[in-house]
Amino acid sequence: MPAPGILVTGGAGFIGSHTCVALIAAGYRPVVLDTLVNSDARSLKRVACITGIEPVLVRADVRDAAALDRAFAAHPVRAVVHLAGLKAVGESVADPLGYYDVNLAGTLSLVQAMGRAGVRTLVFSSSATVYGDSHPSPIPESAACNAVNPYGRTKAMVESVLADLSRSDGRWGIACLRYFNPVGAHESGLLGELPHGPPNNLMPYVAQVAAGERDCLVVHGADYDTADGTGVRDYVHVMDVAEGHVAALRHAARRPGVLMTNLGTGHGASVLEVVSAFERASGRRIALRIGPRRPGDAPAYWADARGAFLALGWRARRDLDQMCADSWRWQAANPHGFDDPAPAFAANL
Ligand code: NAD
Ligand code: WQD
Repeated sequence: MPAPGILVTGGAGFIGSHTCVALIAAGYRPVVLDTLVNSDARSLKRVACITGIEPVLVRADVRDAAALDRAFAAHPVRAVVHLAGLKAVGESVADPLGYYDVNLAGTLSLVQAMGRAGVRTLVFSSSATVYGDSHPSPIPESAACNAVNPYGRTKAMVESVLADLSRSDGRWGIACLRYFNPVGAHESGLLGELPHGPPNNLMPYVAQVAAGERDCLVVHGADYDTADGTGVRDYVHVMDVAEGHVAALRHAARRPGVLMTNLGTGHGASVLEVVSAFERASGRRIALRIGPRRPGDAPAYWADARGAFLALGWRARRDLDQMCADSWRWQAANPHGFDDPAPAFAANL
């Protein structure tokens, strides 16, 4: 019995490549559709190092209807995990049309092609950014979506489109996963985050300071109303997020309708707590200085994580120390990303 095919858009990216590992481990055969605009095809070779199976890569754009039709014709799949998209909040403020084109129009193009192909099971990569910055934590899925930037609005709009689609056609099974802050790397040290240029996000920046690639972490504000004054977030291991996609896929395949669910640990950690955890994991001191608040940052938010457990039987299993240990292993073994050969220690996985 051949493994069921799953189309993974954006599957060469950070979360996508880890999701391919989890899908293969669960007995699926991922087919990746990706433009590689923000990723490297060698990530799929690393997936093969880990799993023994290299996902097929279809180099195409989700906005290209003809390419999508060709992909569905060439690769029979049961469902789609849709991760392809642009994800930088600041960039979305500068280029809103670019974000609406890829994230919103791209998803419309994809679900139209899915309908033509008779594939109506979808897991969509949403974000906690849909909530905006006005809700007390822990934030439940019932909280209103008050996104405060174009990026978050693209995700909220896609969720509304998918809910309307489901109401119009009961054959669709859809799960929208609102990730909080995915961080870390596969435990093998073979896969991880590959920011282009100076990282905007905390964890990869801290990793680069630990590796000596950056001199100093600037803490964006230490005067928030939090325990130590620094920003608090719900960091969740990327492999927990990846496994959450498998659980969501199984749910969407057997339950028509739309599920909106948080993927988070249900706990917050401050910037200084992340720094301390990373120093423990790496044995390196993280030089830092306190800078001004970053515009648009919320002081603190974390997930109400009960929904995913009740609906999917999923909960985050890896803690902050493991997130940092895995992130450090990836950083230390791949200072130049996939330009480095696969680390020897990973040979006998
Ligand atoms: P990523 O940039 O590593 O992966 C996105 C992938 O999509 C890349 O491989 C990129 O080449 C591809 N892509 C972009 N535009 C495309 C297009 N038009 N057609 C086909 N492929 C295209 O980012 P990631 O962190 O892996 O995020 C994956 C998804 O998760 C995104 O939709 C993002 O919005 C969402 N998300 C990410 C985070 C996070 O903190 N990383 C948090 C919440 C939600
Ligand atoms: C975390 C904390 C910063 C960098 C972003 C996107 C969100 C989602 C996840 C896509 C904050 C502080 C950071 C630094 C710092 N992505 N920080 N110095 O902003 O919570 O979420 O990534 O969906 O949409 O907004 O994550 O890692 O940028 O920041 O002090 O150099 O670390 O102020 O408190 P954020 P982050």
